[in-house]
Amino acid sequence: LFAGAADFIAAAPSIGVLPPMDGVEIAFAGRSNVGKSSLVNALTGRNTLARTSHTPGRTQQLNFFKIGERLTLVDMPGYGYAAVEKAKVAAWTELIHAYLKGRANLARVFMLIDSRHGLKEIDTDVLDGLDKAAVSYQIVLTKGDALKKHEIDARIAGIQAAIARRPAAFPEILLTSSRDDRGVAELRACVARLLSE
Ligand code: GTP
Ligand code: MG
Repeated sequence: LFAGAADFIAAAPSIGVLPPMDGVEIAFAGRSNVGKSSLVNALTGRNTLARTSHTPGRTQQLNFFKIGERLTLVDMPGYGYAAVEKAKVAAWTELIHAYLKGRANLARVFMLIDSRHGLKEIDTDVLDGLDKAAVSYQIVLTKGDALKKHEIDARIAGIQAAIARRPAAFPEILLTSSRDDRGVAELRACVARLLSE
């Protein structure tokens, strides 16, 4: 699946200009700087497909990438970045919510959480929205290279407890790193399973 073509197809600044729904869509959501664009690149094996940056707020539109015939990956703007203008943050938040709740071919949202920081209030707000809208999501921990084994285990156990009663949460939590590629094969397998469902 990821050995073939991966192409940028569109960047949508607002909900009115999304590309047509086509095949299975999977979105990467999470706080600014959590590593969404980096993980899209790691997953597809293309280092420059999605633009990454040390400074939060890099991705400002919904970016759609076509992988093979039937799969579209969506790299989303991050939420919760306070240093850009309030109006901009509000517009992104609105766009993120409108997209997540209104996309019929959205098979799953990968909810990226920085493994060093865990779930923040702003994350649980987004999870509340997804649970209410019955949009299936899966927690993907990022930057796993920055933690020790026992810290990782504690982080996963904590989040597992936090999502246990959430109706739209997929129970399996993935630990990934775009830096050392851990968990990337497992993430690819998840995507492949979604495509074959
Ligand atoms: P926005 O588009 O601004 O919301 O950010 P993003 O979530 O797309 O994050 P991005 O992929 O641009 O990465 C943000 C920063 O985190 C960059 O400095 C990356 O080098 C770093 N980063 C991403 N993935 C990893 C990882 O697996 N490990 C470590 N240590 N750093 C990472
Ligand atoms: Mg980004």
